[in-house]
Amino acid sequence: MNIMKIKLFWILTALQEVKGYSNETKCNVQNTIVDCCNLALTTIPSHLPVNATSLDLSKNSIKIVKGFAFQSLRYITDLDLERNLIQLIEINAFHGLHRLRSLNLNFNSITLFPDGMFDRLNGLQDLSIAGNTLQYFQDNKITEILNMLKILSLRKLSFDIYPDFKFPSQWGTLNKLINLGIFARSAKVQFNKEMFAHVNVLQIMSLYIDVVPFISEDFFEHFPKLDSITLAIGRDLPNNPIDQVFKSFGVFKGRNLTNIEIKSGRFDNGFTLNHKRMKYLWSICLKRLTLCNLYIKNIFIYAMQVFSVQSTCLEYLEISENTIMDQGGSFFTLIQNFENLKVFKFISNWRRSRSKRSQQSRLYTFKVLLPKTLEELYIEDNIASDMVNVEIINGLNLRVLSLRDNDIWSCEGTFAGVINVEYFDMSGWTCKKLSINLLYGFPNLKTLKASGSLLGHGFANTAKAGSFLSKNLRLQDINFSSNRINSIPNGLFLRQFEQLSAVNMSHNNITIFPKFHASIKALKMIDLTFNSITHFNNEDIEEIEKLGEVDIFLRGNPFQCSCKTLQFVKWLGQTNRVSDSLDLTCVTEQASRRFMSEVISNLKTFEISCKTKFWLPFAVSITSIILLAIIITVVFFRYKYAVEYFLLRFKMKMKNYKEFRQEYIYDAFISYSHTDLEWVKDFHDNLNSMGFELCLDAKDFIAGNGIAENVVNAIDSSRKVIFIITHNFLKSTWGSYEMEMTRMHAFQKGREDMVIVVLRDKIKVTDMPEIMKNMWIKITCIQWPNDDNLPYNTEEIFYEKTKMSLQKKDETTLLYSRNSVV
Ligand SMILES: *[C@@H]1O[C@H](CO)[C@@H](O)[C@H](O)[C@H]1NC(C)=O
Ligand SMILES: *[C@@H]1O[C@H](CO)[C@@H](O)[C@H](O)[C@H]1NC(C)=O
Ligand SMILES: *[C@@H]1O[C@H](CO)[C@@H](O)[C@H](O)[C@H]1NC(C)=O
Ligand SMILES: *[C@@H]1O[C@H](CO)[C@@H](O)[C@H](O)[C@H]1NC(C)=O
Ligand SMILES: *[C@@H]1O[C@H](CO)[C@@H](O)[C@H](O)[C@H]1NC(C)=O
Ligand SMILES: *[C@@H]1O[C@H](CO)[C@@H](O)[C@H](O)[C@H]1NC(C)=O
Repeated sequence: MNIMKIKLFWILTALQEVKGYSNETKCNVQNTIVDCCNLALTTIPSHLPVNATSLDLSKNSIKIVKGFAFQSLRYITDLDLERNLIQLIEINAFHGLHRLRSLNLNFNSITLFPDGMFDRLNGLQDLSIAGNTLQYFQDNKITEILNMLKILSLRKLSFDIYPDFKFPSQWGTLNKLINLGIFARSAKVQFNKEMFAHVNVLQIMSLYIDVVPFISEDFFEHFPKLDSITLAIGRDLPNNPIDQVFKSFGVFKGRNLTNIEIKSGRFDNGFTLNHKRMKYLWSICLKRLTLCNLYIKNIFIYAMQVFSVQSTCLEYLEISENTIMDQGGSFFTLIQNFENLKVFKFISNWRRSRSKRSQQSRLYTFKVLLPKTLEELYIEDNIASDMVNVEIINGLNLRVLSLRDNDIWSCEGTFAGVINVEYFDMSGWTCKKLSINLLYGFPNLKTLKASGSLLGHGFANTAKAGSFLSKNLRLQDINFSSNRINSIPNGLFLRQFEQLSAVNMSHNNITIFPKFHASIKALKMIDLTFNSITHFNNEDIEEIEKLGEVDIFLRGNPFQCSCKTLQFVKWLGQTNRVSDSLDLTCVTEQASRRFMSEVISNLKTFEISCKTKFWLPFAVSITSIILLAIIITVVFFRYKYAVEYFLLRFKMKMKNYKEFRQEYIYDAFISYSHTDLEWVKDFHDNLNSMGFELCLDAKDFIAGNGIAENVVNAIDSSRKVIFIITHNFLKSTWGSYEMEMTRMHAFQKGREDMVIVVLRDKIKVTDMPEIMKNMWIKITCIQWPNDDNLPYNTEEIFYEKTKMSLQKKDETTLLYSRNSVV
């Protein structure tokens, strides 16, 4: 049952993680370490891995720790609730945390602890309750807390003190306590012997004091075992206690100390690191000294030289975040005499206004004398200069050289004497000008950091830029991020970097995958995020596949999901080399942005749509052809007769018909419906007897010619065309064919008046065929006598009219009105 629950929970969290619905699932879980730091949580997440051993909930907005809040998390040893808004801790809040070793409640708004809060926390070793508003401390009743604690196991404690604080006599019961953090909550607190009215000495080894308004010369006498001191001086104090601080170290004369760190003392005038102050450190065998963020405005060389000669134990020296004036690299002279110095950090000590650019000659060689023992040198964010030829003397032990964030305006120079350096950082330089042999002096370089160094410009401006790394064949880790590199110089990575494992080319402007040497087998990570890659072509993909098990990061590139990049998208869908493939987006052909994973999951559809697109041109042409055919057909049927007529004429021309006949064979061609044959015969015979030669199809058509040809021929050979219009005629299609042909012919030949219509039946003009109506104005119309028009129209008159119409023009007298049909 339980296992089921757990499984279900994991599935649920996994699901939520993907969807990102809930803050708590954003907690970073690594093995049993759960990191929920800085997630804007307002309550303690409920579904956390039950086997978690470390839970970091710091920097959230939790106000209340409810009872039994952690009861399912029985394995927690470290619980961090620092910097929340906790006002209330309910009874039993920490119930069940039997294994708790470290509880951090620093910087909340707790005023009271519930009764019995610590009762079951028997194993607690590290308790931090500073930065709250606990009443016990304000009333100087720390004993109450100690009574509550009853924790003999406590090794580390951080708490607030107010003026007149005194270590209580019960302190002695905390005989394992060796690490103390004291947070002075008032500028009136004085660190002096009054604090030790009830206990004389403390067995503390490591002491952290936050805000030191005043410290007496003899304060540290009460800490015979002290080994490490960190003093955060504070700001807005009535007086700068820095002199007292240095003086208070006098008690350590002749003793061994591991660490002294003085930091965060911000006083407007700052102070000078001079002989008067430094002398208190001379005679301590001190291993580490850090002077950070103190507004040190000057270092007196003499004071430092004496210190460096005397402090034979010093291994680590850091002077950072001060306001020391640049003395042209003079800080090197500060350290050369140390006998055992291994690490020197000199970081961000600029005055606010930086000095002007110095003009240094390229030929200038800058010699630096280091302590022989020095292994790590960090001169960061201090120098403003052009690069020169640097020669380091006694640098054989140097492994780390970080010169990052200095204002190096040109990178034309070389290094000598650094052959064992494995880590070199030149990030933040301005390498528009670059010498190709800048790194030739580092044959053992393993890590090269050159982020934000404008190397892109340098490469573009330098001939043979591809050999920039040609002498650094032991490189393992290269960071060229943010360098405005548009294209990687030819051959830059085509060297035998057999141990190369990580390359960061993030935030550049490259478009294609870098080419690596075939001997590179250990490559684990290539970061190409935020470049200008739209896709990889097949060559790139092959290159990647050759590299073996490498994690490639590609977020933030303007990928395109189009049919052109289909191969690439397909590859993305199946490769396991791209680690952030879920974060990739792409722009489609419709210019919309989509998640690459969406496109990949719809790959089939995408592919089909691409194929469709491929076929589209063909489809389009086929469609066009069909459309054209339809149009032609329509046109053909619409203008069928015109076309046919044209073709016919053409054909006849080929057969050498005579185009114009001045003399017609027939006086008229009679077009009629065969159902009216009898009447037509009479009509024919009557006219024939009047002396007219008439063409009746059956009689006169030439055998062997097509009927259409015969018709045209007949029309052509006749002076007039007579249409015998009857109801039958109107019904027959052939009649309209002849009509069309006649019309064509008539207009072709300028014989518009060739048409005679004999209306045998009673038919209105409106009922006439369209063609007939169109040429009506040119038509001679003769009505066959019927009941209506008798006696004005008899057969006699009819034939008379017909006769006159058939006579040649000059013989014709217009006795009748045209278009006399009603
Ligand atoms: C999650 O975070 C949001 C703000 O990012 C906050 O408003 C909300 O209360 C948080 N949820 C929980 C359960 O803490
Ligand atoms: C913690 O529990 C989860 C599942 O309940 C399991 O996958 C994981 O391996 C466990 N971790 C350890 C270190 O036991
Ligand atoms: C200081 O440490 C050295 C070894 O580093 C040791 O020989 C010497 O006894 C120590 N001195 C004191 C006073 O503890
Ligand atoms: C590369 O340098 C950048 C900027 O300094 C840094 O954020 C990043 O972590 C570095 N990456 C590697 C792999 O060193
Ligand atoms: C590469 O450098 C960038 C900073 O430019 C950094 O954000 C990123 O985390 C680095 N990549 C890796 C894998 O460290
Ligand atoms: C990035 O590269 C392209 C050509 O690949 C170029 O047109 C563009 O100007 C470059 N952008 C920057 C900021 O250098």
